Amino acid sequence: MRSYPRVTGVHPPLASPAYGSSRLRSPAREPLVIPQTVSELTGPVLGERQFGALDADLTRQHSGDPLGERIIVHGRVLDSGGRPVPNTLVEVWQANAAGRYLHDGDRHPAPLDPNFSGAGRILTGDDGSYRFVTIKPGAYPWKNHPNAWRPAHIHFSLFGRAFVQRLVTQMYFPGDPLFSQDPIFNSVPDPKARERMISTFDLASTEPEWALAYQFDIVLRGPDATPFEDEDDDA
Ligand SMILES: [Fe+2]
Repeated sequence: MRSYPRVTGVHPPLASPAYGSSRLRSPAREPLVIPQTVSELTGPVLGERQFGALDADLTRQHSGDPLGERIIVHGRVLDSGGRPVPNTLVEVWQANAAGRYLHDGDRHPAPLDPNFSGAGRILTGDDGSYRFVTIKPGAYPWKNHPNAWRPAHIHFSLFGRAFVQRLVTQMYFPGDPLFSQDPIFNSVPDPKARERMISTFDLASTEPEWALAYQFDIVLRGPDATPFEDEDDDA
């Protein structure tokens, strides 16, 4: 299988000492190359027929409206030459407006929202575009260091033509005051690459009386690549 060199300074190292759990999750030995077989490269992929009408609208997956600030998150998936990447599965997961995940592992004292699960998915269109409707996630505390808080973020996963081709990153919101103390955001060495994880407020795509909008283009590789993390990271 073809592979592409990771651009120096853009993607976070597997071990980022300030990000505590990366010490245990990162390999201590050199990786082994395991040959991939035809079944791994041509195995099942999702087809359009498996998508529900509301998969990309996280505000309409229950009987009522979720609490919080309704937003549109949209953008394009692009290759290193700026060409659109169609038919790519884009999945998102996020905390609710109070900063709480619908997950057994999240026990911090913020309320769950019965009208918000926090997960969505969509296939990119012919022009590489995707569009979600969701709720702006809240910041949440975590135990990485004293008084540690994650900046508001949405987790993104992209699948290529096979399940072994997966990229994971996080989208942030402009002007967040928590960037400076977040070791995950700062595990990306290059400050310019960090900025590529921050969405842009997009007034032109807002819907009056209904929702604000943020644009987040994802570049798979090359000098403008979006930083991608080790896919086991889940904070
Ligand atoms: Fe998170």
